[in-house]
Amino acid sequence: MVGCGNDSSRSYSHNSSSRSNSTSGSVEITVAMVITCIIAASGGLIFGYDIGISGGVTTMVPFLRKFFPSILKKAGDAETNMYCVYDSQVLTLFTSSLYLAGLASSLVASPVTARLGRKFTMLLGGCTFLLGGAINGGAENIAMLIGGRLLLGIGIGFANQATPVYLSEMAPAKWRGAFNTGFQFFIGVGVLVANCINFGTAKQSWGWRLSLGLAVVPAAVMTLGTLVILDTPSSLVERGKLEQAKRSLQKARGNADIESELGELIKASQVAKEATDEPFVTILERRYRPHLIMAILIPFFQQVTGINIIAFYAPVLFQSVGLGHDSALIAAIILGIVNLGSILISTFIVDRFGRRFLFLEGGVQMFICQVAVAAILAVTTGVSGTERISKGNAILVLVLMCIYAAGFGWSWGPLTWLIPSEIFPLKIRPTGQSISVAVNFIITFILSQTFLSMLCHFKFGAFLFYAAWLAMMTIFAALFVPETKNIPLDSMDTIWKQHWYWQRFVKEQP
Ligand code: BGC
Repeated sequence: MVGCGNDSSRSYSHNSSSRSNSTSGSVEITVAMVITCIIAASGGLIFGYDIGISGGVTTMVPFLRKFFPSILKKAGDAETNMYCVYDSQVLTLFTSSLYLAGLASSLVASPVTARLGRKFTMLLGGCTFLLGGAINGGAENIAMLIGGRLLLGIGIGFANQATPVYLSEMAPAKWRGAFNTGFQFFIGVGVLVANCINFGTAKQSWGWRLSLGLAVVPAAVMTLGTLVILDTPSSLVERGKLEQAKRSLQKARGNADIESELGELIKASQVAKEATDEPFVTILERRYRPHLIMAILIPFFQQVTGINIIAFYAPVLFQSVGLGHDSALIAAIILGIVNLGSILISTFIVDRFGRRFLFLEGGVQMFICQVAVAAILAVTTGVSGTERISKGNAILVLVLMCIYAAGFGWSWGPLTWLIPSEIFPLKIRPTGQSISVAVNFIITFILSQTFLSMLCHFKFGAFLFYAAWLAMMTIFAALFVPETKNIPLDSMDTIWKQHWYWQRFVKEQP
């Protein structure tokens, strides 16, 4: 497409080498940085664990009997088509209440990360989630259940806001994509571990308690890990802690000369200090319009890929063909493993092939799979959805879902956390990330609240709905997402200035 990005990154590297060697990415990876970033990325664990656990727990009979007896009765009565079995507003409200709490805390996280640092915010996220997990594990009534869930949501809001920013600021430009994908990788690990735990606990009457209570483990891992890492050099410089910033940068960059990179950070922080406006106001200025649009549309598009719906539907489909609870969970586990593998692939190629390539390839791959799944379901289960799908066709659908999950795992999965954390200038970076997380949560909330009845009414058409969005987001990525690979954070303005469309917003005002 007309100068959409690859060009800008190429032409940038010419300028940058004369400017600042260390920030342009000649820095090598050090063991200390790898360990720091792995620890930080574990912030994704709590989010993933909750995604994986809540889906399973809400289908456990003892859990429903204790907290939602009316739903259990309705499920017993259900004599409906296969798309409607799980349609229950109250239950989805329980699951998605977490996203409303996360929405609020991700916005609060903006001033917290700016004033108290990325590390502190991650710590806060870990502790709050830990408390929520403990309350949920011991829940005796709905109030405890919902109260715990709100704390989990607050914890995730903080963690999801601060962790991607931490990773992007810590990594050298050349490897920023690779390190940042660690966050999505840990989300995937959390989902997978949670699915395995549900698999083990589903048969016990107190299994739900264990599943919910074990949330304290990923929370403890993350919290303790955060205690031993240093905050990012950018954040420390911004908060006037120069000595600590130097230490953090030296530790991350090993023997490399850090003076010029530190100089760039100090310069960026001085620019940030000159802006006295409230960041939520600054971000609305015309020159930040392209950034803001990305921070809103990217998480929106990520959710309308339909990833959570596929993750939810795979086990349901397997159960509905009579393969039983075990094979339903096995389907989820297979999807989880494929997803993890593809995130790893993305780690290795995101800084080489670039973000745009992954967006486009992943989008096309997911589109084809959604259309194919819809077609198979339409043909095999009939328009009303009352005919049973054969085991062979169910397996075919699962294979397509795996190809779909791989597409997500190397594109919209990790890139949704990466792009918003790398495109904003320092002064509004936390705010941009907050908005992005908030959008992610609100759309997840709306979709999870409506998906089950949509599936019930649209049947296989629900998959076509997501296919249409996939087509749209792929075209959007082709036309409007600039390439950000290899570009130092404090030089990111070049990508907009060289973009065929966005340049009109960022041109210097006379
Ligand atoms: C998304 C979640 C999704 C998860 C799947 C995340 O990036 O934001 O909605 O459930 O990936 O692994």
